[in-house]
Amino acid sequence: MDHLKELIKLAEKDFEGCKTLTELDNAKSKYIGKTGPLTEAMRGLSKLSNEEKPKLGALINDIKKSIEELLNARKDAIQKKEMLSQLENEYIDVTLPGLKQSEGSLHPISLTMNRIEHIFHSIGFDMATGPEIEDDYHNFTALNIPESHPARAMHDTFYINKNHVLRTHTSPVQVRYMKDNEPPLKVISPGRVYRVDSDATHSPMFHQMEGLWVDKKVNFANLKGVVQDFLQKFFEDNKLTIRFRPSFFPFTEPSAEIDMSWNGGWLEIGGCGMVHPKVLNQVNINTDEFQGFAFGLGVERLTMLKYHIDDLRPFFTNDLRFLKQFGDQ
Ligand code: DAH
Repeated sequence: MDHLKELIKLAEKDFEGCKTLTELDNAKSKYIGKTGPLTEAMRGLSKLSNEEKPKLGALINDIKKSIEELLNARKDAIQKKEMLSQLENEYIDVTLPGLKQSEGSLHPISLTMNRIEHIFHSIGFDMATGPEIEDDYHNFTALNIPESHPARAMHDTFYINKNHVLRTHTSPVQVRYMKDNEPPLKVISPGRVYRVDSDATHSPMFHQMEGLWVDKKVNFANLKGVVQDFLQKFFEDNKLTIRFRPSFFPFTEPSAEIDMSWNGGWLEIGGCGMVHPKVLNQVNINTDEFQGFAFGLGVERLTMLKYHIDDLRPFFTNDLRFLKQFGDQ
């Protein structure tokens, strides 16, 4: 009996030494586990007399109860300590400033494209796109630039294979659009174009914006009006004027370069002209009934002027210090 009573003291000491619940669980099995001394003693009861049995049985139960109480008390203490240290370690300072989500912004070229689309939409133009890998026919032949025509040399072309190129201008979209739609037509087509050219003022990939208006009576004066109207809106300057300089493009007749007034002088920003009858014939538009004009503007040029950027290269080097300046447009 004394030996059994000793167990309470031993267990108390043992439990005190346990720092974690796992340690405590291991210590517990030494006293009240299936192979522990109390279970053993219970089994031994059968050897005792009927008089001794209940006495010792009751004592064993009391000891077991005491050890269980010690165990629970220690368990509570360990849990409380663990919770406190967790609270301390995972303390959140709610007064610290929050983590900001960094905001993306549109590329200046995209901003210009959006403005172009918005302005032309407001004056009744639709939008069309075409493939960047274009066939020889749409990029050249249908635009009155037959094979071996010197005008092909004007465009330093990236060839994909004998019949396909990276389009050198957005003009092939004119052909595709006229083929798929009946006149009257009013459409713009901004997009990427490619030429074998790379220096401070040329990039092998750049952007153009094509415009086309085909109707019964559209003329050169309308062309001038539309381009000037667009530029005045784009640069938010209703004093801006344009002038046409005679030029040559195989797909327009007559043709002109477009200059706009800038800082007291003139600046070239694109080409234009009346759509050549040979181009209209290619897409089965009756030239006795319809005529049209077309123009092509350089999107990088417009963007540089709009945002006072004097170098073409930052558009393509993805330097965030440059790009972030356009975040709030
Ligand atoms: N496609 C010409 C180029 O890339 C630009 C151009 C000139 C477009 C006259 C036109 C146009 O629509 O009428 O150099």
